[in-house]
Amino acid sequence: MKMASVIVRCSNLAKSSGGIIVPINSLHKQNYCNKPPPPGTPPPQTKTTFGKLSDEDRVFTNLYGRHEWRLKGALKRGDWYKTKEILCKGPDWIINEVKTSGLRGRGGAGFPSGMKWSFMNKPGDGRPKYLVVNADEGEPGTCKDREIMRHDPHKLVEGCLIAGRAIGAKAAYIYIRGEFYNEASNLQVAIAEAYQAGFLGRNACCSGYDFDVFVQRGAGAYICGEETALIESIEGKQGKPRLKPPFPADVGVFGCPTTVNNVETIAVSPTICRRGGAWFASFGRTRNSGTKLFNISGHVNNPCTVEEEMSVPMKELIEKHAGGIIGGWDNLLGVIPGGSSTPVIPKSVCEKAIMDFDGLVAVQTSLGTAALIVMNKQTDIIKAIARLSTFYKHESCGQCTPCREGVDWMNKIMWRFVEGKGKPEEIDMLWELSKEIEGHTICALADGAAWPVQGLIRHFRPEIEARMNKYKEDKIDVKVERC
Ligand SMILES: Cc1cc2nc3c(=O)[nH]c(=O)nc-3n(C[C@H](O)[C@H](O)[C@H](O)COP(=O)(O)O)c2cc1C
Ligand code: SF4
Repeated sequence: MKMASVIVRCSNLAKSSGGIIVPINSLHKQNYCNKPPPPGTPPPQTKTTFGKLSDEDRVFTNLYGRHEWRLKGALKRGDWYKTKEILCKGPDWIINEVKTSGLRGRGGAGFPSGMKWSFMNKPGDGRPKYLVVNADEGEPGTCKDREIMRHDPHKLVEGCLIAGRAIGAKAAYIYIRGEFYNEASNLQVAIAEAYQAGFLGRNACCSGYDFDVFVQRGAGAYICGEETALIESIEGKQGKPRLKPPFPADVGVFGCPTTVNNVETIAVSPTICRRGGAWFASFGRTRNSGTKLFNISGHVNNPCTVEEEMSVPMKELIEKHAGGIIGGWDNLLGVIPGGSSTPVIPKSVCEKAIMDFDGLVAVQTSLGTAALIVMNKQTDIIKAIARLSTFYKHESCGQCTPCREGVDWMNKIMWRFVEGKGKPEEIDMLWELSKEIEGHTICALADGAAWPVQGLIRHFRPEIEARMNKYKEDKIDVKVERC
């Protein structure tokens, strides 16, 4: 009887934790059960204010390329320090440290990284295992991974080795978007330096572990950032997402168990192992741990990429690091907070938005890639979202009907709305169409096409209706220049 009551209470908690599904044993049981939390549980956060990250707590200390990016400079910044000791502690230790850190994937979906790595930590069946690093960075507004690769490539290379050891991989493939020529070439130089120094290859860092790193350049298709399309592309096929299951941890690249992680996720792992998971978990709210690279673009005085503490208020992030909105805070119209596929939120919501996974879900949007696209009142918001629809229409791989046909249809409607053509009932029709697309396809590209449109309708419906009324009154054809 007693056991049953514990299970009921814990499973309620798992349900109410929202967002991702959290296994019961990763929750802070001390509040609910008498046992101490299992190893790998991030310590609960006691702070109540977040932001103002100090220089000594930055992971990316050469983000702006002010120092040498090659091995000599990297060693000075503390990269490759005691890597052998970390490797020799073994996969369980590394995975446990990453679980304790509370690190969640930085590629958009926010899946807990330690848990993802633990899926690979099972007895082998003779097939080699691989790590694939997603350096495709195609999400409009997002430009954080490229800064790592051109200014701090050794962080990523060392991260590959440590993550590779954690999952028992034989090699890592870094799949980088074709347009990133300089980044690919710096990365290649860093890999060559690491081989020369004995950090990679046979007996990497004298740890007894053999590990190789390869760079694979893509050809610039956004869909190749989706992990299974990326795997197809590495294999030399068209970048079209695979149906899941099987998941890459079972059948990934070349039919072998594979973990796919974003560049930033991998690049922070050496620092987590050196400074400790608990150190990383001391930043940001519980379930939203760590420091994070934010991109701030659009109508701000100083567009930038900056490393800040998770859970920093959006207003503080924009005002402190990006020099505020062009025309002042009151001139803000709205912000797309996590790359182009996340729903736009208006100024009234931005005022209190918290920049972390839970904070943005609470205001019906998402942290995504943490790339803020800021729009002031001089923006034609309908046209801006229509332009995004055109992007998604263009990038659809065409496998699923709701995506291939639905996103094209949404795009056509959006451009009519830009001109003011249409009736208010059609706004509801567009909403319904976006809901028919969302969640009905092989991959999340279609969701990413639907969400910006939903954000527009949710918060800017009066603007769409006003334009329709104006069109009706003027009865003139406004020639819209499509971009
Ligand atoms: C259409 C689409 C494009 C994506 N593009 C990227 C990308 O450019 N970079 C990236 O890291 N993840 C991208 N993702 C997410 C990946 O599928 C995957 O979730 C991620 O690489 C996992 O890494 P993480 O766990 O470290 O976040 C994309 C997903 C979709 C659906
Ligand atoms: S959702 Fe779109 S991009 Fe993704 S597999 Fe289907 S058609 Fe291709």
